[in-house]
Amino acid sequence: MNSESHCLVSRRGLLQAGAGLLLASALAPFPARSAPSDGHRIVAAPGRTRLRPDRPETDVWTYNGTVPGSVVRLRQGERARLVVENRLDQETTVHWHGIRLPNAMDGVPGLTQPPIKSGETFVYEFTPPDAGTFWYHPHANSLEQLGRGLAGAVIVEDREPVAVDRDLLWLLSDWRLTDGGGIASRFGNWMEAAMSGRVGNTVTLNGRASAAEPFRAGERVRLRLVNASLARIMALRFEGHRPMVVAIDGQPCDPHEPEHGRILLGPAMRVDLVLDLEGEPERRYDVIDDFYDGLSYRLTQIAYDERPPIRAHAFDGPVALTHNPLPEPDLASAERHTLTLQGGMMSMSGMSGMSGMMGRGMMGGGGGMMGMGHGAVWSINDTSMTGDGHAGMEPALTFKQGRSVVLALRNETAWWHPMHFHGYSLKVLSRNGKAVPHRQWQDTVLMAPKDIVEVAFVADNPGDWMLHCHVMDHQMSGMMTVLRVA
Ligand code: C2O
Ligand code: CU
Repeated sequence: MNSESHCLVSRRGLLQAGAGLLLASALAPFPARSAPSDGHRIVAAPGRTRLRPDRPETDVWTYNGTVPGSVVRLRQGERARLVVENRLDQETTVHWHGIRLPNAMDGVPGLTQPPIKSGETFVYEFTPPDAGTFWYHPHANSLEQLGRGLAGAVIVEDREPVAVDRDLLWLLSDWRLTDGGGIASRFGNWMEAAMSGRVGNTVTLNGRASAAEPFRAGERVRLRLVNASLARIMALRFEGHRPMVVAIDGQPCDPHEPEHGRILLGPAMRVDLVLDLEGEPERRYDVIDDFYDGLSYRLTQIAYDERPPIRAHAFDGPVALTHNPLPEPDLASAERHTLTLQGGMMSMSGMSGMSGMMGRGMMGGGGGMMGMGHGAVWSINDTSMTGDGHAGMEPALTFKQGRSVVLALRNETAWWHPMHFHGYSLKVLSRNGKAVPHRQWQDTVLMAPKDIVEVAFVADNPGDWMLHCHVMDHQMSGMMTVLRVA
């Protein structure tokens, strides 16, 4: 793979766009840094970077020296070989989030592989069946390793890419920085774990706080959004623009405008947009994240350069992506189960909330806590699995290989949870009794408080697969279980 400053323009797109390639060289899309070309070698090691202009450099943990780590570009249906070398002073693994791969390549320590010790390497080999936007991150000491910067995008290239002028990645991360530019150390704060998790104070776009991103009037871009935060949920609004959602969690959906113009992006989720740059040269438009009440901020600005529109009329090619070969669950014969999410503080204030949590999680409150000692404040179906994964995790449910399965996820808590299923993409059927439109498949399902979401899948991939909340504090403190397909 030569350079990542690439431009996905099909021949047809080129004919339509004319100046597409020129444009790509005029504007530097992320990332300017190149991935190593010797297959894919990914080195996890400490490094330093400037995350925001008003702070000193920050000590971070990196993949190949940068945050985010170098982009891993794979091709749909072609075998990939990824050598991961651990130069941290602690064990790690890599999880290829969202990719349907063999269980032994899933990167869960104890459950699917031994951890990669400091100084050792591990070779991951798999053939990605689906094109789309995925990402990779550690699955050992996850809260701290992800919180110190270990994350990168995996882009599995489409055989037939959609015609756009540029294909861009915005990998979004949330950091808790001290005034001195360091990463606040106290990972795993018990109170935070029982609430919204470790939400930070600095959001970066491709590894730096962004004042503006360069665009040209009239161009059409595919924008791949990845939320690599530990806990921060985002709701993005593109002022003055009408982005179309074309894929969720890497899986193409029917193109649609986001509900209320807000793109909801929980931790670990990805959304691919097709964005037509219909604004005026030299103008700037805000991109706002207003998920948390009263805490909205400007993520960046869409900054148009002075050049006239790249084309006279709006780009009129189709925006739909080619669907991936996902097996369609047979709802009539599917077996049905419920997974109930429990625990946490009942509300932000008041002792009743506190005692509610103490009763369930900390005091044991009627068994089911699996004797994992301190720190379990969440559970799934009355059982708390804590940490990052380990040997001997008993599956909550076992499915016969090939069965269609419908799961009802019930959030009984007062908090949001992005629930991630390893090894599978799930068809989202309904939310609170209402059918979910646009053929949405997800590996990370964002659950609002009290939500009930129905998902379906064909249990075609054997193994022990983790299912957990991707708010890292929640996973570490009990919101995790295992599904077995055998
Ligand atoms: Cu992206 Cu088990 O995680
Ligand atoms: Cu959660």
